[in-house]
Order: sequence, then C-alpha cells, then structure tokens
Amino acid sequence: MLYDTTDRAYLDGVSGIAVTNLGHGHPRVTKAITDQAKRLVHTSNLFHIGLQEAVAEQLRAITGMENMFFCNSGAEANEAAIKLARRFGHQKGVETPKIIVLDGAFHGRTIGALSATGNQKIRQGFGPLLEGFVRVPPNDLTAIDALGETLNGVVAVLVEPILGEAGIRPLDTDYLQGLRSLCTKHQWLLIFDEVQTGNGRCGSAYVFEQMAVEPDVLLTAKGLGNGLPIGVCMARGVAAEQLGPGDHGSTYGGNPLCCAAAQAVLTTLTEENVMSQANHIRDALLTALHGHLADPTLVTEVRGRGLMIGIQPTTATDQIVQRGLDRGLLLNIAGGDTIRVLPPLVMSLEQAGEMGAGIAQILNEIAQQEDRA
Ligand SMILES: Cc1ncc(COP(=O)(O)O)c(C=O)c1O
Repeated sequence: MLYDTTDRAYLDGVSGIAVTNLGHGHPRVTKAITDQAKRLVHTSNLFHIGLQEAVAEQLRAITGMENMFFCNSGAEANEAAIKLARRFGHQKGVETPKIIVLDGAFHGRTIGALSATGNQKIRQGFGPLLEGFVRVPPNDLTAIDALGETLNGVVAVLVEPILGEAGIRPLDTDYLQGLRSLCTKHQWLLIFDEVQTGNGRCGSAYVFEQMAVEPDVLLTAKGLGNGLPIGVCMARGVAAEQLGPGDHGSTYGGNPLCCAAAQAVLTTLTEENVMSQANHIRDALLTALHGHLADPTLVTEVRGRGLMIGIQPTTATDQIVQRGLDRGLLLNIAGGDTIRVLPPLVMSLEQAGEMGAGIAQILNEIAQQEDRA
C-alpha cells in the first residue's frame, strides 16, 4: 500500500516500475538498510567490500554467472555490457564491433543504452547516438541469421526476454533458444537485459531459467535493491574474461549500503520462497479481471509471466491511470496502449482480486462512455 499526503490509501500495482518487488517497508530489507546505515555506507571500490562479495556469491549461486560488475542502475548495467561486448570484439581483431538489438527494445537513457534502445520516441532529439547497433524485428530468427552471413563485425545480441517498456511483449521461447544456437554458431555473446524481468518479478529469480536458455551476459537492477540504487552486469565463460580491474568502474557501484539491501532481497527471495506466490497472485488478479468484465472482448490479450502483466484493452487507454487513482489503484500504461500491472510479490490474493476487479470496472466504464459518444 502507498498513502498520499491526505492519508488516502492506494493499492500499488506499479511497484516503483518493477522495483519494490518485496513491497514497501519489507521488515528484513528495512532492518538490513538501517543496520548497515549505522555501520558503514560507502568506501569506494579501492577497498574490498565484504557485502559486495557476498552478494556476488549469492548471484553466482542463483545464476551460474562467474564475474560481476556492480553499478547503480539498469542503464549502467547495459553500458557495462556494451563495453564488455566491444572489448570482446577488439580482442578478436574486430575493429568496429556491432551489437544486434531489437525494434522496440528499451535499455536505458544514457547515450550508450539509448543507442541500443529501439523506441524512436525516446531516442528522438538526442542524436548523434552511438554507432555499432544493428536493429532487427523481435521473434524473427532468419533476420538475425542472415546478418550473421552478410554483416561483418557482429559480436553480440542484446535482448530483453520480455520487452517491458514496449508493452510486456515476451520473446518466444523457441526464438530465444534459436538465438542461443546462433550466438554459439557465430561466436557472438548472448546478452539478456533482465533489469525489469529479474529479481523474482516473473516467478523465478531471473526469467532465463524458465526459458532454458543460458545467456553469456546477464544484466539486472531495479528489484535487486528493492528501492536502493544497484545494478549488476554478470558474465560467464569467455565473457567473464573481458574486463579486469581498472577496465571499467563506478565510484558508488556495489557500496555497502546498497549491497546490504540486495543481500536481504536475495535472501528473502530464495529462503522465504516468495517467488512461488507470483503465479497465484497473477491468477487471482486475472480471474477477477475476466470475471468482472461486462464484455470479454474488452480485453484482447494478456501477456507476460508472473507479476509482469500486460493487459491489452480494446478501449482507449488515456484515462486508465487517472481512473485507477480515483479508485485507489496505482496502474501504468506501457507501449502506448497496454495496461502494465507490476504488483509486488507480497500482495495478498484478496488485494490481487481487488485490483483485477478494479481494472475490469474501469474498462467497463470507459466502454460505456465510448458507446455513448
Ligand atoms: C529492460 C530495461 N533495461 C534497462 C532499463 C533502465 O534502467 P534504469 O532506469 O535503472 O537506468 C530499464 C528501465 O525501465 C528496463 O526496463
């Protein structure tokens, strides 16, 4: 729940854009942050940071990745991966390395991450952007294979397994498995941007586990600190050998305070098994949604996994956020016309039902209004 300045309560279906996956004021995370704030907040990476090593060890055990670079955001995790991929190319004698990215993808707003981003509206007005990105449509393996045969200098493929900002659009599992084979065949790095899909949001620590596809580089941020700024670029195999001490850096990255939060988040996700709630909450929300729609054709499709839910309505979407606020529900629109619902893993099934029913009632009202117009 969130409360406004008049103490009005809101059921949070946004989670700070997929960040507070364990809700607001989670006791274990709050205790870790307050205890650590009293001890030591920051030292810089000139010194060993035990908590950073402990979080790296937790991530290694969960993901199988070998080396970790800690930073402060999703965009910075993507920047690290872009540098890593370019370095990998240079080591192989590729002078102008290229990274394949997807139409509609979102990787962040710093210049490198923005150059990898496919959304024209977000890129517009900030040129010149970086060279070295080749864009292809999602879920089209032949387009990528063709590039492998004709284009020199490809070193990596960077994808979000579920395109979040584009409106919760999952890549097909077959496609991701095909990508894995193509990357192995052409000796490209497969980079998964799990900034939004990660940290329990989709019902597993990282969504790649559900797709049986192992990336070479794995990026995350958002939910890792449950609100404290932390990002990480993880690598395995040859990808883990590309960046050594001094090659890349961040003053704040992985500082003791943010790592204390991340440690508490990962411990909670793995020990308390809250992740298994994701699909129960999803089911309760969607059952209530469908049960309360006046007309089933008001929703054409529901996409995503776990608590990354994209609802595609046939009504206009411009009033949905405000109507949600009026009902005490926090909702969000992504990709222009998709209702993006990102509830926390700690939402009760009753609350999930309330949210699903509320969304249905909003759509019913808008449909009625549109019919009258
Ligand atoms: C898939 C993905 N990558 C990167 C980012 C950028 O993360 P940040 O806003 O922490 O820089 C986002 C943020 O929405 C995202 O969804």
